[in-house]
Amino acid sequence: TRSAEAATSRLAFDQVAANSLDTITVPAGYKWHVLASWGQPLWSNGEEFNQASRGTGSSQELAFGDNTDGMALFQNQGRNILAVNNEYTNRDIIYGNRESKLPETADDVRKGKAAHGVTVMEVVSKDGKWEVLKDSPFNRRITADSPMEITGPARGHDLLKTKADPTGTQSLGTWNNCGNGRTPWGTYLTCEENFNGYFSSSDENFEIPAALKRYGVSHKDWGYNWAMTDERFDISKNVNEPNRAGYIVEIDPMDPKSTPKKRTALGRLKHENAELVVASNGHVVVYMGDDERGEYLYRFVSKDKYTVGGDHSKLLEEGTLYAAKFNDDGTGEWLALTPTTTGMKDMAEICIHTRMGASAVKATTMDRPEWVSANPNKVEAYCCLTNNKNRGKKPNAGGDDTSVNAANPREANKYGQIVRWEPMNEDHSADKFTWDLFVLAGNPKVHKDDRKGSANVNEDNMFNSPDGLAFDSTGLLWIQTDGNYKNEGDFEGQGNNQMLVGDPETGEIKRFLVGPKGCEVTGITWSADRRTLFIGIQHPGEKDTGSHFPDGGDTTPRSSIVAIAREDGQTIG
Ligand code: FEO
Ligand code: CA
Ligand code: CA
Ligand code: CA
Repeated sequence: TRSAEAATSRLAFDQVAANSLDTITVPAGYKWHVLASWGQPLWSNGEEFNQASRGTGSSQELAFGDNTDGMALFQNQGRNILAVNNEYTNRDIIYGNRESKLPETADDVRKGKAAHGVTVMEVVSKDGKWEVLKDSPFNRRITADSPMEITGPARGHDLLKTKADPTGTQSLGTWNNCGNGRTPWGTYLTCEENFNGYFSSSDENFEIPAALKRYGVSHKDWGYNWAMTDERFDISKNVNEPNRAGYIVEIDPMDPKSTPKKRTALGRLKHENAELVVASNGHVVVYMGDDERGEYLYRFVSKDKYTVGGDHSKLLEEGTLYAAKFNDDGTGEWLALTPTTTGMKDMAEICIHTRMGASAVKATTMDRPEWVSANPNKVEAYCCLTNNKNRGKKPNAGGDDTSVNAANPREANKYGQIVRWEPMNEDHSADKFTWDLFVLAGNPKVHKDDRKGSANVNEDNMFNSPDGLAFDSTGLLWIQTDGNYKNEGDFEGQGNNQMLVGDPETGEIKRFLVGPKGCEVTGITWSADRRTLFIGIQHPGEKDTGSHFPDGGDTTPRSSIVAIAREDGQTIG
């Protein structure tokens, strides 16, 4: 089924054309089916998704959450356990049965909180189709109300103490879980991103501390209305609660009774994903983006070393945080955030006010760092810089300069780029690196200046706003987009959000998949035999884009996980 041209490339599939269809398009010779959709029950005492009511608080607590994002498939004695983030809720869709399309009642808020967090579920392959195993002992929902343990330097700090938790060691819930990571010791990392959008103030004159403003906390939430039933989200009553969110949380997917651990040592930011590698000297290195215009790219290096079969419970509790500096000459360095370099009091404060630490060391302001992925075949890592309308126009929330620089080279960057770096001495824990741009996205159909993109972008493979990013085990780079899908003006010819594959050696990029209307494509993991590729379709039909994915007809659009396989059953990538 392959064309002669495809057979000569490492990207061995026929490129999919851009389109604006309300379905998933894959190359000839590939097929797909839906594994799980928002509202689908994980236990047999849960209700099937109700198209009219769109679910209630109690049905949602027993069901897959909304807006699927980062995920990882784990194997345990032949069983497949999928851990997956449910980032946020599409309020106008999940409350679309109400005239206001907003949460109005206490049960609406209960449903909204339950649609967030993480889902752990066992999945099985039957007659060539993957499905969720209802009632598996591994099935679990972690929501905005689940107990968490706070670990690391900030544990017990005054800034983390609240009325409900005077010790500052136990928080409730995780929300806005964006990308993910996984550890070699078998745990799942979920990354708290836009945690600020859930807080509001019942006192409109309440003076918001500057440190909360840096993270975008304001008097109004983003339409979730959680403070209506839960005082934790009213900052005039609980000013420290936002300091307990914005972390990376470690979860043991094999133990449904385990308490998730907030890892404050990895810093507090709007975490995108967590790419964990073991450096050549045994230290654990975690690369992390802070997805906000003009914010920074971070690295954590563990104090202790990883050993196979050793005790891993404290590896993510102690270490050094760094922010990246990309020099215009193609060199770069990781700047350590310490009391000396930042002028901050101690590591606890650095782990809570991490953005201020990065500003203090004068790291490089970036065009919204999204996912990072490390190449399994070479000591190097890549990061999507999705776009940044403020580049060269407006400082970041800390007042830091955002003039164009070589790594973020375009003013009011509409299309984004992917930067990659090679650490010195093939050591991810080294403090120096060299870097270049793998791709500068653009539109060569519309523009002839630098907005046309780099040489590996053409009218057939063009895209905007790279976001999700993952190497497969063969060393091909899968790129997922979350950008403008209007297919007009600057984005004419780019169609819906999509997934592409890049070859890190040649720079070649080909479009592998196009998603349905209004979606972004985010989250990616493989079956152990690499014959199934799982991806997430998030927010189909947002902003009245008219999607009815995946069920068609006049059904409610539902965020879904999709399984992709080759018709001939061979491996993917
Ligand atoms: Fe949740 Fe930056 O994407
Ligand atoms: Ca993202
Ligand atoms: Ca994005
Ligand atoms: Ca998203």
